[in-house]
Amino acid sequence: MAIKTVLKMGDASLLQVAERVEEFDTPELHSLIQDMHDTMAAENGAGLAAPQIGIGLQVVIFGVEMNARYPDAEDVPYTVLINPVIKALTEETEEDWEGCLSVPGMRAMVPRFSKIHYQGYDQYGDPINRNVVGFHARVVQHECDHLQGILYPMRITNFRTFGFI
Ligand code: NI
Repeated sequence: MAIKTVLKMGDASLLQVAERVEEFDTPELHSLIQDMHDTMAAENGAGLAAPQIGIGLQVVIFGVEMNARYPDAEDVPYTVLINPVIKALTEETEEDWEGCLSVPGMRAMVPRFSKIHYQGYDQYGDPINRNVVGFHARVVQHECDHLQGILYPMRITNFRTFGFI
């Protein structure tokens, strides 16, 4: 178990496209996920992507249960999601506040698809398939963006909302 340093916007590795995980249920993968879990918990985050701790693999974790940073958010079950694929189930987007551990101290309104399907695998290689809405859909879109080298400020359409908490 280890709490890792979260890379901050400006670090070039946050802009890389992450590679697919080819082997599941390995000690290396379990160790990575443990580190991500410990780091997310220590930072009180809603989610974390492997590139944020300098690992260029398609691994994200997320989960929200009475998170102090998102007091109004509904619960999102703790999930390990590997090699994710997202499909928007509507053209409709909704704006809400987002922050990111790689952009500390700031927030902005970010548009996201309000309803998505996502699929991928857990750390054992078991498939995950879910239709989700609202904050759960937002968290997944935010975390999976990290795997494409996209940080939420790149998604802001109304920069008047961008600022320090
Ligand atoms: Ni983030």
